[in-house]
Amino acid sequence: MTIIKSLTIAAVLSLFAASAFAYDANWKRGRIYYRSVCTSCHVAQPVGSINPNARTVAEWTAYLAADKHAKGKESVKQYVSKAYRASIKASNKAAEKFADVPDEELAADIKAFLIKGAKDGDSPASCS
Ligand code: HEC
Repeated sequence: MTIIKSLTIAAVLSLFAASAFAYDANWKRGRIYYRSVCTSCHVAQPVGSINPNARTVAEWTAYLAADKHAKGKESVKQYVSKAYRASIKASNKAAEKFADVPDEELAADIKAFLIKGAKDGDSPASCS
């Protein structure tokens, strides 16, 4: 009885934890957003395209955690935000398509794509 009880409690707790905290990042959505929003701006700037495989998993993780874009002039999050998507959606299909995705989910998707494509990631990607 006590075993069943504690198993039930454990199951309920893990369900709760899964729904409350875990998000299964969608690297494909991250790739679309990265290519359509991040890269489309980079290629129009002197910086040029920034491929996922230009950095290691550790470097991307640190970069995104620091959240300092363009040498600290602004945050990376700003370009992931709903507000930014809303501001460009008239001319950007990905921003329009993902207009309502929560910021944290889209940020996790982009991170998953960058880490997967990193120099030492599962499938290094040069095509940004
Ligand atoms: C509106 C234009 C624009 C958008 C959108 C944009 N970037 Fe950038 N990004 C830049 C510019 C300009 C630089 C170069 C800044 C410099 O060298 O001073 C840059 C630089 C970078 C760098 C190189 C390191 C650094 O911060 O200088 C990374 C990595 C980067 N961007 C990631 C991203 C990601 C991820 C997104 C999308 C979530 C994104 N950028 C969206 C304009 C943009």
